[in-house]
Amino acid sequence: MGELVVGIDVGTTKVCTIVGEVRDSDVYVLGLGIEPSQGMRKGMVTDLNALRASIVASAHKAEKTSGYEIGRAFVSLAGGHIESINSRGAVGIPNQRGVQLDDLERAMDAARAVNLPHGREVLHVIPRNYSLDGQAGLRSPLGMLGFRLEVEAHIITASVQGVKNLEKCVEDAGVLVDRFILNPLAAGDIVLTPEEREAGVMIVDIGGGTTDLAIFVDGSVWHTAVLGVGGQHITNDIAYGLRLPTELAESVKLTHGHADPKAVSSLEAFPIQPFGEELPTKVQRADLVHIVHMRVAEMFEMILKEAKRSGYDGLLKAGIVLTGGSSLLPGIKAVAADVLRMPVRLGQPERVTGMSEALKNPAYSTSVGLLKLGLIMDEEDARREGLRKHSNSRGSGWMRGFLRGVAERLLPREETGE
Ligand SMILES: Nc1ncnc2c1ncn2[C@@H]1O[C@H](COP(=O)(O)OP(=O)(O)OP(=O)(O)O)[C@@H](O)[C@H]1O
Ligand SMILES: [Mg+2]
Repeated sequence: MGELVVGIDVGTTKVCTIVGEVRDSDVYVLGLGIEPSQGMRKGMVTDLNALRASIVASAHKAEKTSGYEIGRAFVSLAGGHIESINSRGAVGIPNQRGVQLDDLERAMDAARAVNLPHGREVLHVIPRNYSLDGQAGLRSPLGMLGFRLEVEAHIITASVQGVKNLEKCVEDAGVLVDRFILNPLAAGDIVLTPEEREAGVMIVDIGGGTTDLAIFVDGSVWHTAVLGVGGQHITNDIAYGLRLPTELAESVKLTHGHADPKAVSSLEAFPIQPFGEELPTKVQRADLVHIVHMRVAEMFEMILKEAKRSGYDGLLKAGIVLTGGSSLLPGIKAVAADVLRMPVRLGQPERVTGMSEALKNPAYSTSVGLLKLGLIMDEEDARREGLRKHSNSRGSGWMRGFLRGVAERLLPREETGE
């Protein structure tokens, strides 16, 4: 039996609560509650009461199906207020005694001590690699001799208000937030293979209101970003372009939508009922596809720009993995490959069992990933807490939000059990 964990993925279009166990690498689902989400735009809370009600409905459903009461949960976080920076921290190693775990911790402390603008807080701190006396690119310098240890870390920050508003919604719904986890880290953990993360890959979760991405190189997180654009923007463009109410535009997208003009015949047409018309009219499917294509191509241009901005676009040997509900749009893979000029595959949670049929869908990558990554982060914190107590050094203020990569980096491989 694994440990019982709960994840609540608060998306722009749906709230998904999962009660499950992590058994080895699989997530075994005991209870599930998927409800439409209200009160969120582009990943930001816009209506506390509406969002709380959506979370309550989703959590209740998961409680009912699992038979467990939900007290606390790992909660997804995205939104335009997320930013990431890279930072370095250096420490001296005394007496030629070899690098110890505590030195890695001290170096991370130093990297974390960046000056944040007012109103921002640190969400995750992820070590990428170490250097010792100038020898760069070390994964784990433990035991190595040297005088000066330096760590390169990726720091993800969020607006304090953005986090507080979501925390309030979840806590008003009667659930304590165990920790917030950035969407693409959760999705990456469940969808990407270790080989992809080693080779260099970008995970892109295209949801309703946001597109969340993370770049993994050499097995660790190198860059993250949240773009305030998603499937709802495609729907809005269809509504505007074809003069349709939003719900109808959404259903037209789901029934006839396609992102690749080359794949659709110019002869295809379908009937719709636009605003101000008494009788249904016929729409050339190519016109719809043109609208969808323009937006999707623009989204991938933004993604490409972000990859270039990170400086790692040339390192993505395994290319890009698309997930999130909008990755179900037919033709999206071809447009991604056209714009990005790299290998593209679609990803969804595979290693999920139990009450899991609905979850084997790209819309639930982040939802399922929360359980696994949340637990890994907890284990890391516990390990680090033990280390702190043992060395009886500083407090534990910086420990929130550590990642699997840390396990591989801070501990020798034997100890991680891998
Ligand atoms: N078959 C499909 N074709 C095109 N779009 C689809 C399809 N199925 C779902 N979508 C789109 O996926 C989006 C929802 O995806 P998802 O459930 O991942 O979003 P979310 O997690 O609620 O939002 P976010 O992560 O942005 O806050 C909607 O915009 C929906 O229209
Ligand atoms: Mg989502």
